[in-house]
Amino acid sequence: MYKIAVIAGDGTGPEVINEGLKVLNSISLKYDIQFDFTKFDFGGGRYLKTGETLPDGALKDLKSFDAIYLGAIGHPDVKPGILETGILLKLRFGLDQYINLRPIKLYPNVETPLANKKPEDIDFMVVRENTEGLYIGSGGFLKKGTPDEVAIQEMVNTRKGVERCIRYAFDLTRKRNKKKKLTLSAKTNVLVHAHDLWMRTFTEVAEEYPDIEADYAHVDATTMWMVKNPEWFDVIVTTNMFGDIITDLGAMIQGGMGIAAGGNINPGGVSMFEPIGGSAPKYTGKNIINPIAAILAAQMMLGFLGEKKAADNLEKSVIKTISRMKSMSAGKMGYSTSEIGDMVSEEL
Ligand code: IPM
Ligand code: MN
Repeated sequence: MYKIAVIAGDGTGPEVINEGLKVLNSISLKYDIQFDFTKFDFGGGRYLKTGETLPDGALKDLKSFDAIYLGAIGHPDVKPGILETGILLKLRFGLDQYINLRPIKLYPNVETPLANKKPEDIDFMVVRENTEGLYIGSGGFLKKGTPDEVAIQEMVNTRKGVERCIRYAFDLTRKRNKKKKLTLSAKTNVLVHAHDLWMRTFTEVAEEYPDIEADYAHVDATTMWMVKNPEWFDVIVTTNMFGDIITDLGAMIQGGMGIAAGGNINPGGVSMFEPIGGSAPKYTGKNIINPIAAILAAQMMLGFLGEKKAADNLEKSVIKTISRMKSMSAGKMGYSTSEIGDMVSEEL
């Protein structure tokens, strides 16, 4: 019996999470796996009513679950930053989910904007550091609102944080057993302090993995290769901010936000799985958003819970469903949100 915390969140979050739960219930019937779902109402709606982002005690409660299944956080009526730092980042930091794992995989019959690239060319993973870097919120203003204003936003990289992320990436590259190549994506030519730490740590840890090719690319060049030669990549390890940026590019080359899923991983604690797109307010309530990303987030969650067979078969069911869809974009799929969930369940 797995205890799953469900945070459907804002906008289209609840719609896509419903389809994910539908599919998990089918998994439950087919594989004799029990789930105990507990819903939490964190998000913009609750914030607008109560002024509260994550209530006291939420982190402690969530630590008693086996995993968290998250829809989307973000509300058009709430100023940018409040929900992001108060809910999403607070969960990632508070639960020490130090890896943000984002597979970039082009499935058959999915359209990519990259000309002449096929599923075998686009299949890699980004390991994004998830608790440090530019995301820690440290810094401040001097003389705010005056012509002499100074705004400082500090980037923090710790040896411990960098090393555990890099080790995770090397282990993953070995476990994937594909090209056996790990690319560090950073900016050592400009961030001569912070990324010197990344490079040194990467080089030192690489010694322990002689079977893995340790490769380096500056982040700007990484975006270029992701478009021109995505087949060069196997696993990319990168910082929090760079990982945020390159995984949106990754989502596009794998067919769009409708299909991109990720996991916020604490290997020794509670991990959280989410579709990486936002709350998509303009599609809310129309039953037209693509739930595949949320279903693939559930698939990732199953894999992390150790249910490999169920996870593999769910991926196959998703691939079959995709082959019947007209597009991965909201409103153009040829089916409604709930029909897609039904189709995946039937395939199972
Ligand atoms: C993501 C999102 C978040 C991030 C935002 C919503 C804070 O863009 O998960 O990639 O920047 O990490
Ligand atoms: Mn992002």
